[in-house]
Amino acid sequence: MNRTKLVFFGGSKGGVGKSATSHLACLGAILCNQPAAYVLTDPDRQIRDKGRPYDVLDGRQPKQLASILDASRSTPDGWLIIDGGGNRPAFDLAIADEVDLCVFPFRPSHEDMDTVSTDMDRIANALAWPTAWPTNIFAIPTAQSFINRLSKKYPSRVINKPIPFVNSASDLLAESLDSPSPPVRRLARRVFGIMEAQFERSVKSVKRRAAS
Ligand SMILES: Nc1ncnc2c1ncn2[C@@H]1O[C@H](COP(=O)(O)OP(=O)(O)OP(=O)(O)O)[C@@H](O)[C@H]1O
Ligand SMILES: [Mg+2]
Repeated sequence: MNRTKLVFFGGSKGGVGKSATSHLACLGAILCNQPAAYVLTDPDRQIRDKGRPYDVLDGRQPKQLASILDASRSTPDGWLIIDGGGNRPAFDLAIADEVDLCVFPFRPSHEDMDTVSTDMDRIANALAWPTAWPTNIFAIPTAQSFINRLSKKYPSRVINKPIPFVNSASDLLAESLDSPSPPVRRLARRVFGIMEAQFERSVKSVKRRAAS
């Protein structure tokens, strides 16, 4: 039976792009004519639902989140995108068990490497996704070396299509998202496309593992 696909953007480090990428994924889904809802789980953040073409759900309390997850099990289609919060390893571990795909955004820094490695060791099937990635040709080689190092340590667990740094990405976290700029819309479609392809790949590999 088809049901809503559950994706969690998490990880212990703050400010890596969990929220921006969650909103991009939802916007991208809508632009590709697929239903999507965003779930806020960080009790330190405010609900920002104005102007958004997708549902914004309040999962900041465990009870609220549990009922959102319950409802998703009887929803036949679309995407439920769950936005984590920094420094909540126990929460990440628990939610990783509930979702179909668990993704940790990371940026090109040594600190991010350390944190994302610890998170990936803790959550076996989680993937890492390079986020807000440099597009300047002088910065690309160094940034790529971080991807290479992580991919070597965690084969097949690093999404090898970085989400580029886009100036107007901050629009995604603004009070209202009435008319996203063309670069944000383009980025949203791209993020959704990569996430959807990765989702298919992950589902197939889970099926393969179950059959073997
Ligand atoms: N692809 C991108 N291009 C440019 N800027 C980005 C991109 N993704 C995220 N950012 C910016 O990085 C900053 C941090 O992003 P965001 O708030 O999504 O991180 P977070 O992991 O959710 O942080 P927290 O742990 O505090 O919740 C924001 O200012 C956001 O606009
Ligand atoms: Mg956030």
